[in-house]
Amino acid sequence: MSDLIVISNRVPPPESGEGNQGGLAVGLLNALKSGNGLWMGWGGEIVEEGEPEPPPAEYSFGGVDFATYPLSRDDYDSYYTGFSNEVLWPLFHYRVDKMAYDRRKRSGYFRVNRMFAERISKRITKRARVWVHDYHLIALGTYLRKLAPDVPIGFFLHTPFPPWQVLRVLPDYEELLEAFTGYDLIGMQTDGDRDNLVQALRHGLGAEVEGDRVRYGDRCVDIRTFPISIDVDEVAALAASGRESLPSRRLSRSLLERPMIIGVDRLDYSKGIHQRFAAFERTLELYPHHRDKVTYMQIAPPSRVDVDEYVELRADLEGVAGHINGRFSEFDWTPLRYLNRGYSREVIMGFMRQARVGLVTPLRDGMNLVAKEFVASQAEQDPGVLIISHLAGATAELGDGALVCNPNDIDGMAEMIHRALTMPLAERQERWRRMMDTLRGYDIHRWGNDFMHALERLPSANDES
Ligand code: G6P
Repeated sequence: MSDLIVISNRVPPPESGEGNQGGLAVGLLNALKSGNGLWMGWGGEIVEEGEPEPPPAEYSFGGVDFATYPLSRDDYDSYYTGFSNEVLWPLFHYRVDKMAYDRRKRSGYFRVNRMFAERISKRITKRARVWVHDYHLIALGTYLRKLAPDVPIGFFLHTPFPPWQVLRVLPDYEELLEAFTGYDLIGMQTDGDRDNLVQALRHGLGAEVEGDRVRYGDRCVDIRTFPISIDVDEVAALAASGRESLPSRRLSRSLLERPMIIGVDRLDYSKGIHQRFAAFERTLELYPHHRDKVTYMQIAPPSRVDVDEYVELRADLEGVAGHINGRFSEFDWTPLRYLNRGYSREVIMGFMRQARVGLVTPLRDGMNLVAKEFVASQAEQDPGVLIISHLAGATAELGDGALVCNPNDIDGMAEMIHRALTMPLAERQERWRRMMDTLRGYDIHRWGNDFMHALERLPSANDES
């Protein structure tokens, strides 16, 4: 039986191995190792109608226990694709125009949340603490609170949280807000997101606010900012070895000494890839001397392929990429390399280390760990320049070393790309050092420890009331 139970919709697959786990996985695995931990969630499997449901997959990896469950086709459609990714994801990214709500999705969401709460309750020990992750599982706390009233339950939201006037577009906003009050501690990425949630609880539920603490009926929840980060040394080491890897050496040979601009994003409309392509095209228009001299490589593995918006985005970007290359390519130069596939973390970090410019220009993003990974991947003797959107959570920490853009201003982004490509080495180094100092000051280990310590110090809050 485990003392720390982490639950997230997606669980890192064991076969991904050391060095291939995502940044969040690395951080959480550390917290779990020291807490005799268990990580639960969806294993990625879908059980078709009429098929028998297989038992959970249980395994241990790196000193941590895992238990993953399949989703039925109906749960996958209504809970994951439907309410999580066609309702909450666009809503939390301020894209109400992309929301596709219906009641079947809503009931699937609450059903799966209850199911996971029941599964957790069977594994709870006397000393257990539970840490729930992300927008897929907001409602889990409500159910688990009923099943295990005294267990400290924390929640961390990895995405942004919208202002109250945007949130109330959701038909079930009250139910969703009430779900937040099932937790003892809620962690948000930035102060802005934190303030939005607190205000929504105040306006939407009439909850009372006292500093970080929100009271609603007999519940009391602390809402604080914990900006998620990366393991700086791990990323730097991966970048150094990745730079020596075969793919990285092949990339370097193919560039023929041309500086490279890099973007690495899941293929998602929140990432602003369309605007970024337009800004690159404008750079080549406004500064013709960069033609034939610079290569932009955009890595964008497909994501959420059953959501219509993502299918349309993919087709749209293929058109734009083809247009740019058709317009500017020479027989021996392709301006834009657009790759709909993923690579291991080591290879990606090695690619980033070679880049002169990193483009991280989301229209809205909870944190964006790629921005932090780009910085930690750079070599001090020749660091690349980070161009970051002021709408990414990471800008609160990296904004004084990066060039900060508005992704809706295509000309502004083009000017910034030119500035980054021509920035003198001394300025690049000075900016990079500033960002590295910030990253070293608050890394993924601090993030996990701070959250767990805060959660452990809290339960008394609900005993008082
Ligand atoms: C975002 C979410 C994560 C999610 C990831 C990949 O970063 O905050 O919770 O796992 O996207 O999306 P997917 O739908 O493939 O899990």
